[in-house]
Amino acid sequence: MKVLQLGGNGNLGSRVIPALLAHGHRVIAYVRSPSKLRNILPAAVIERITIMQGDSLDTDAVADALRQNDCDALVNTSGTRQPRGQEQNLGKIVASVTGAAIQVGKERGRPIRAWIIGGMSSLNYPGTSYQIQDYMPAWLIDHQRGVEAAVKDLSTADVQWSLLCVAMMSPAHSEVEALVEPRKHNLLVQSWNPPAWQDHWIRYMPFLGVYLNLVPAISSYTTRLEDVADLIAEDLDKQKSEWVGEFVGFKAPKVEKSS
Ligand SMILES: NC(=O)c1ccc[n+]([C@@H]2O[C@H](COP(=O)([O-])OP(=O)(O)OC[C@H]3O[C@@H](n4cnc5c(N)ncnc54)[C@H](OP(=O)(O)O)[C@@H]3O)[C@@H](O)[C@H]2O)c1
Repeated sequence: MKVLQLGGNGNLGSRVIPALLAHGHRVIAYVRSPSKLRNILPAAVIERITIMQGDSLDTDAVADALRQNDCDALVNTSGTRQPRGQEQNLGKIVASVTGAAIQVGKERGRPIRAWIIGGMSSLNYPGTSYQIQDYMPAWLIDHQRGVEAAVKDLSTADVQWSLLCVAMMSPAHSEVEALVEPRKHNLLVQSWNPPAWQDHWIRYMPFLGVYLNLVPAISSYTTRLEDVADLIAEDLDKQKSEWVGEFVGFKAPKVEKSS
């Protein structure tokens, strides 16, 4: 596929780019600072991609990037949580990017495939009739609510979206690596509910248990940035993805200690 990657200067986006290349996709990196990207990515990656300068909030520029490069798909990892008390613009970024995708998809009569990064708080809280975010303080998840609101009512006939609901991510390698072949991500993946959910004993404490339980439960969903990048790149190999129109959760399988 020809993929517009927005946010390639970030932790996740910089790993998505080599993963997409390893899967044989053509990559157009849309970033605010091309010079920063050239410092982050290895030369072997830079020479294989097209770089475009732009802001994700600029819907017309994103639409032009999709048109000019005849992109079939986009991956949005752009957007940073603002400090507490400041206005969060992640929802605006996602509305801008999906708006551009819808516009170009309609012109072509063929919707664009889009992976949007959101938060794990959008998934259901197993054992309750609510989402995880309903048990979290507003200031912690306001930005993720904005992302969710920007995608959840979009028709998949207009844009083939998936919302990737990530918890914390950490790097397996501090430097971004060029890949010679695709890696297998090995993650458990499930839509709407977090896969392999496990309550901590603290959940059974009266009143506060259901809230406190989220700290150990969510921390067990910490994953490697590289695995998340591979999950997205692998999915874009598919003609028809089972994750279209879904909130997608994932978890690294527990590694058994050898005796
Ligand atoms: N890392 C985690 O553990 C984690 C956990 C939950 C959710 N997330 C979400 O997942 C996404 C990716 O995470 P990450 O760790 O890769 O984030 P990151 O390292 O902060 O990268 C975000 C990138 O977005 C770019 N960006 C911000 N505003 C932009 C705009 N208006 N136009 C174009 N680019 C813009 C930034 O570009 P500049 O370099 O130009 O500033 C930055 O490179 C983020 O939305 C984050 O909120 C991350």
